[in-house]
Amino acid sequence: MKTFNVAIVGATGAVGQEMIRILEERKFPVAELCPLASQRSEGKTIRFNGKEIPVSILNKDSFKGIQIALFSAGATVSKEYAPIAVKSGAVVVDNTSHFRMDPNVPLVVPEVNARKIKEHKGIIANPNCSTIQMVVALKPLHDAARIKRIVVSTYQSVSGAGAKKIQMLVDQSKEALRGFSVPNQSWKKYRAKEAPHFAFNLIPQIDVFVDGGYTKEEIKMIDETKKIMGDDSIQVTATCVRVPVFCGHCESVNIETEKKLTAEQARRILSKAAGIKVIDDPAQLQYPMPINAGGEDPVFVGRIREDHTIDNGLNLWIVSDNLRKGAALNAVQIAEMLIK
Ligand code: A2P
Repeated sequence: MKTFNVAIVGATGAVGQEMIRILEERKFPVAELCPLASQRSEGKTIRFNGKEIPVSILNKDSFKGIQIALFSAGATVSKEYAPIAVKSGAVVVDNTSHFRMDPNVPLVVPEVNARKIKEHKGIIANPNCSTIQMVVALKPLHDAARIKRIVVSTYQSVSGAGAKKIQMLVDQSKEALRGFSVPNQSWKKYRAKEAPHFAFNLIPQIDVFVDGGYTKEEIKMIDETKKIMGDDSIQVTATCVRVPVFCGHCESVNIETEKKLTAEQARRILSKAAGIKVIDDPAQLQYPMPINAGGEDPVFVGRIREDHTIDNGLNLWIVSDNLRKGAALNAVQIAEMLIK
């Protein structure tokens, strides 16, 4: 079997570590794994297929002999190093936002637009985590009934903000609970002392604010959804919120379709679609939750019901592991299709 030299840029990060786990789990044909990170990771090792592999410091020569490079070390690193990797002969799957809206770069979710992979000129972009799980769930409905408008509110876990933020939620939670007692309103004492304050809080801001009062995360969801679905006519509006959950993003999604879809029809369509697991049995209190989605591959969909305020409307609750399908798994799936 043909094997490939694979570099992971950001190998010590939350997504990078998940990429390495998924390459191993899915038996990706790796000849040599090259974990790359910053100077801060000097001396660290990464465990892969039973071996400890030293982390190398990213530099301009890091990509010699590399055929596939998975990037997840931030947009600035991708901007500088992805073209260097391509020049060295690697194909880059980039998990950052840097190249996503470049018309020369395919933005791919394999369940939705795998055919775009072959148009690549060296770089393939992996979409934003919240966008990936939403389009996996909505594309089959779009094909069946044409979605005209999407209104989405997200509930995004802290792992989406990186490994350091996961530790921050641990520390802030411990600190907030120290001496906490319910009847005396002691929560007032724990008002945010540092920013961002994740524990026992909701933050209606992910990424920086841009024009019109939207955040960059919200604009990513709007723009990337149209690009991946290949339909600029879909109207999308989004509100993105950080919640004190370690792993798993949730989305409350309202769609308006051209053709009528009943909840039962939507449930049937989604049950047969690739990458989706429908959990929708309110009588048995069965619905998707982030605590059950962590470490799992599918996009989970539940609470499917008709919106009675418009003729053709549906409400859905969409949950997925943001580090897996929202990032690392999607990137590895792209790499698998590349080598086919
Ligand atoms: P390091 O651990 O050495 O800082 P996360 O999103 O979980 O915070 O992870 C970010 C990843 O990107 C880490 O592996 C981090 O490495 C890596 N990284 C950040 N900045 C750089 C850089 N300038 N060069 C190489 N790797 C970087």
